[in-house]
Amino acid sequence: MKSQATFEIEDKYMAPFFVKQKISIEKGDGVFVWDEEGTRYIDFTSGWGVTCIGHAQPVITEAIVEQSKKILQNPNSGLTYSPARAELISSLMKVLPSHLTHVFFSNSGAEANDAAIKLARKVTNRLDVISTHQSFHGRTISTASATGQASHREKFNPLMPNYRFVIYGDLDDLEQALDENVAAFIIEPIQGEGGVHIPSEKYLKEAERLCNENGTLLIADEVQTGFCRTGPMFVTGAMGIKVDFLTMAKGIAGGFPFGGFAMSEKVASRLEIGDHGGTFCGNPMGCAVAHAVITYLVDNDVSANVEHMGRICLEIMGQWKEKYPNIIKDIRGKGLLLLIEFADSEIARKVSDECLGRKLFVRQTQGNGIRVFPALNIKAEELNEGLEIMQTAIESVI
Ligand SMILES: Cc1ncc(COP(=O)(O)O)c(C=O)c1O
Repeated sequence: MKSQATFEIEDKYMAPFFVKQKISIEKGDGVFVWDEEGTRYIDFTSGWGVTCIGHAQPVITEAIVEQSKKILQNPNSGLTYSPARAELISSLMKVLPSHLTHVFFSNSGAEANDAAIKLARKVTNRLDVISTHQSFHGRTISTASATGQASHREKFNPLMPNYRFVIYGDLDDLEQALDENVAAFIIEPIQGEGGVHIPSEKYLKEAERLCNENGTLLIADEVQTGFCRTGPMFVTGAMGIKVDFLTMAKGIAGGFPFGGFAMSEKVASRLEIGDHGGTFCGNPMGCAVAHAVITYLVDNDVSANVEHMGRICLEIMGQWKEKYPNIIKDIRGKGLLLLIEFADSEIARKVSDECLGRKLFVRQTQGNGIRVFPALNIKAEELNEGLEIMQTAIESVI
C-alpha cells in the first residue's frame, strides 16, 4: 500500500497536533480528490474553506505557471513595485466595500488579524481589544488571545493582556464593555469555527454605531466568510457595514497560502512607514494567484451559484431535521457555510466517520456539529452525490 510509507513518515516526524485521518491525498480535481491508492473522495470541506474554486483549478495552475516563469519574490520584497501586485490590488478594489481604500498582504488569516489588532492599537492609542465568545481568529499568541474558545487558549497562559470577551450577537453586552480603553472590536460577521452562528440583521449595524461612538475600530474578520463563501463577496460589504479593517485569507488565493487586510482612509491616514511589513507580504506569486481567483469568482458569477447551491442544501438538510428529529437538533448557515447540529458529539463523530467510509470528507465542528463548506463552484450533481452520502451516513447511525 503506497499510502503506508506516507503515514509512517508523517506519524514519526510530524508534531502531534492532529488526530489524523488515515488517508493520503495525492491529487484533486474540482470537488474530488484521490488518495495514493486511486480511491476517489468528495471534498465537502474545501481544505477548510480554502479551495474555493476547486482542486487543481486550471486558472490557478496557469497563474502559478506563468508567474513562476517571471518572478516569485521581488528584490527588496515590498520596497519594489510589482505588476502582479498592482493587478491584484486593482481587482480587490473592485470587490471590496468602497470605503476601504488601502490594502496590505499577509500569508495567513492569523497574520492579517494580528496586524489589524496591532495597527488598531497604534491608531487609537488604546490597548484593549474586545472579541466574542466562541470566536476563532487564529493561532498566533495575539490571535489565540482574541479567540473566544477555551481549547485554543487555556494551555498557553499567560496570554496577551487587555483582551476581553462579549456574548456574540448581544448588543447590551457589547455596549457595556465598550469604554475609553477599547482600541478594537474584532468580529466574524458569521462565526465559522465556533459552530456557524449568524447574528441578527441589526447586530452588526448597531455594533458599527456603538464602536463609532466610542472611538473603537471595528475589525471584520472575513477570513472564512470572504470571497463569496456565504454568497456575497463579503458579508459586511453586502450589509453596508463600514468597518475599519476587513481581514481576508482562506479563499483569497484558492489554496495558495495568502491573506491580507483592507482598511478605511481614516485608518490608513494615521499609519506610517515602519508600522508594519513582512518578508513575503504581497509576494508576486501569491498576488498572481489571488488575482486569478478573484477574476474567476467575478467572471463566473460564483456568488449566484453559492446562493443557489446553499438554498438546495438548506432545503434538503431541513428535510433531514424533520425526518430525524431525535438526532438532528438544528440546521443553520448561509450560502455554502453550513452546519448540521447533532444531539451530541458521539453522533456527529459517527456520522462524520460514516461519511468518510463512504468517501465523503466533512468537518466535525465544536463536537456535535458537522460543517459543510464545499468548493463554491460545485455543480448540482456533485452536491447531490455528497448529500446522498450524508443522508445514508445519518440513517446508518439512527
Ligand atoms: C474567522 C477566521 N479567522 C482567522 C482564521 C485563521 O486563519 P489561518 O489559519 O489562515 O491563520 C480562521 C481559520 O480558520 C478563521 O476561520
